[in-house]
Amino acid sequence: MKNNVTALRPQAQYRNPELAEFAALRLDAYYRDRVQNTWAGGHIMRGRLPGPDALQLCSNDYLALSRHPRILEAMVDSIRRDGNGLLMSGIFVHGACPHTDFEQNLADFMQAESGVLCQSGYAANTGLIQVIAGEGIPVYADMMAHMSLWEGIKCAGARPITVFHNEVEHLERQILRHGPGVVVVDSIYSTTGSLAPLRKIVEICEAQGCILVADESHSLGTHGPNGEGLVVELGLAERVHFRTASLAKAFAGRAGFVTCSRRFAEYFKSESNPAIFSSTLLPHDIHGLAATLGVIRQEGWRRERLQENAAYLRHELDALGYNLNGSACQIVSLESGTEQATIVLRDALESRGIFGAIFCAPATPKSRALMRFSVHAGLGRAELERLVAVCREIRDEVGLASWGSTRRKQRVRNAPAVDARREAVAA
Ligand SMILES: Cc1ncc(COP(=O)(O)O)c(C=O)c1O
Repeated sequence: MKNNVTALRPQAQYRNPELAEFAALRLDAYYRDRVQNTWAGGHIMRGRLPGPDALQLCSNDYLALSRHPRILEAMVDSIRRDGNGLLMSGIFVHGACPHTDFEQNLADFMQAESGVLCQSGYAANTGLIQVIAGEGIPVYADMMAHMSLWEGIKCAGARPITVFHNEVEHLERQILRHGPGVVVVDSIYSTTGSLAPLRKIVEICEAQGCILVADESHSLGTHGPNGEGLVVELGLAERVHFRTASLAKAFAGRAGFVTCSRRFAEYFKSESNPAIFSSTLLPHDIHGLAATLGVIRQEGWRRERLQENAAYLRHELDALGYNLNGSACQIVSLESGTEQATIVLRDALESRGIFGAIFCAPATPKSRALMRFSVHAGLGRAELERLVAVCREIRDEVGLASWGSTRRKQRVRNAPAVDARREAVAA
């Protein structure tokens, strides 16, 4: 099925001026290379619109909190009481207030000395790398680390050094070659749900004098005894220099966070570009997040349900022959490979009422596009069974047997020593 990629209301009344050639060429390349040549005039992300019985698996609201009455009430009360507050950048926020109270409460929850609230996870990562990695400093980034970490490296003028996904020996070799610097990883990788080998990475950073940044966006709220994140679950809170997180996942809000020392928090707020040059959160964001923290502490059953649901889905899809690329959490993806194959997969799923999130370049290597399902605590067994039944039914239609990921799975099964990493790099 095709969906036009241009605006829904094509008859614009006004006309923009023509672009200069250097930008016009880029625009043309997008419509030619991606829209026409790859997506056959449609758009990979724009398939059907979900109907009333659609199963939505594209939201990162892992604990199913986005409509929690207590959280909504806190936000509505704040809107009525505070309006939109003071519209200004975070550099002006100081003294005891809901913003700084929540910062310290979240830091305490994460077993950190202090922390800084940011407008988003993206702002947290770019701002953090910008203020710790100066010009030319080596930053060792897992090849699957989130784009915002790579952006931070660019903003800092630092030297990006790619590390093969989750390969600690490669990380160590790279550090020995280029010298001490900053190591950046995601605790849980957002495309495939693989977990970083954090214990080993911490040891390497300590031995080599590197700073470690772990992005906990997909583990905060879902991992740890009370949702404190994977770093706390592994007992590493005092050995990881910085933890960042998007609060638009399990916290179901709109903000980002960085854990750090008290001294660093002051520095970050005064020196990082997103803190200075972009407006801070609104009061109802803060009050909603504060209420969410309370719910996450109190309603541990949500985490349990989430883990059960995710384990069930991983088990069933693995048994159907899908290669889940080492997923060990609530992110479960089907790697269809090319973008064309991913459109076929999208249509097969959506025509049966299943809606996931497509990831393709630049979020994945070019030939490793995928459909991601974000499992959540609100899913019942019947819904999961429906999803599994659809995934069973579509295997031939989507050409599962011919996917590169399926062939890799079979090869690894036959010869566990096969080096999946080299294939990822070659892809
Ligand atoms: C690992 C990771 N880090 C950071 C971000 C950015 O978070 P936000 O959406 O809050 O900007 C995301 C979200 O896409 C993410 O998956």
